[in-house]
Amino acid sequence: MLHAVIMAGGSGTRFWPLSRRLSPKQFLTLGRKRSLIQSVYDRCHPMIASERFWVVTNQQLTSTTQEHLPRIPVSQIIAEPCGRNTAPCIGLAALLIEAADPEATMVVMPADHVIQDYQKFQNAIAMAEEALENSPEELILFGIPPVSPETGYGYIEVSKSDSQQLHQVVGFREKPDLETAKSYVEQGRFLWNSGIFVWRASTILSAIRTHQPEIGRYLDELRSHIGTEQWNEALQKTFPLMPSVSIDYAVLEHEMKLSVVEAKFDWDDVGSWEAMSRLNPQDEAGNTSIGRTCVVDSNDCIIHSSGEQVVTLLGMENCIVVHTLDATLVADRSDQNAIRELVKRLEEQG
Ligand code: GDD
Ligand code: MG
Repeated sequence: MLHAVIMAGGSGTRFWPLSRRLSPKQFLTLGRKRSLIQSVYDRCHPMIASERFWVVTNQQLTSTTQEHLPRIPVSQIIAEPCGRNTAPCIGLAALLIEAADPEATMVVMPADHVIQDYQKFQNAIAMAEEALENSPEELILFGIPPVSPETGYGYIEVSKSDSQQLHQVVGFREKPDLETAKSYVEQGRFLWNSGIFVWRASTILSAIRTHQPEIGRYLDELRSHIGTEQWNEALQKTFPLMPSVSIDYAVLEHEMKLSVVEAKFDWDDVGSWEAMSRLNPQDEAGNTSIGRTCVVDSNDCIIHSSGEQVVTLLGMENCIVVHTLDATLVADRSDQNAIRELVKRLEEQG
């Protein structure tokens, strides 16, 4: 059976001041009806029944996660004692799913991406499932045709550009430097890694054991406690010992048995405030406004007000203004990566 795993442990500091440690990106609606994490559920449901959803998050976020996704069994909202990046996160989910359903296949998804065409997404998942029927040991990725030399993504090299949607993978490279990324985009044989995966729980566990024996050993130690009274204690003790590494560096860069389904669905990894303007309509002057706002003589601005406060802009250009109850951001739109720095500075100031 196909299970859904939502990875929801990131912080998304680039959406400050809307995203906070206790209210990270996956809980934002970004001007839409449902939160990002709820749309991950909507995108897979009813193809995957609620009983087969799992969310891996951290202890501080479990109750908000339950509020957003009340249909997912509470026991399947897994609380990591601390973030150890995606390899331990996926390993833990695979361990629990395999224990519940030894033949299980899982689709692993980030909690904070936007994909609007659910039908095309489900078609792509169905294609991956079909591929696994012929070749059950494969790890299946979903590739996005690259449009720029992004250095924050993984790059999937396919054997040749043909009209097929399912390709054999020649190599995987996580977060290359700008020069390398440029050459990949020019060559035309590379796809961006979407961060969505389909594989059997048992296959990814073997791959983790092979390429990351230390994580593999800790997972196997944990396995003996599944379903026992000692589970929580074992998780608290063992999980923090695992090396903190992403599945991309830990497994995908080393694994030979990779295939990729080229995505026909739209995909936005909602990395920064810029996404707000991609995902919402703009006025004639290129402004994107969410909430109570009034914009006059201004161009290409992103304005967000949460709550009763009216945010007004007069004669501004290319800026971001985000107002919340206890914090306000006014920033140059071209300087968005610096928001991380800003949040760091705020934390240092206490
Ligand atoms: N539970 C849990 N625990 N979730 C985590 C943890 C963790 O320790 N670390 C990250 N996540 C979640 C994040 O919340 C996010 O939803 C997802 O896992 C991916 O983590 P990111 O930190 O956002 O990864 P990335 O953006 O640097 O890179 C990945 O995604 C790119 C596409 O967006 C890689 O898979 C790249 O290859 C890929 O191109
Ligand atoms: Mg990301």
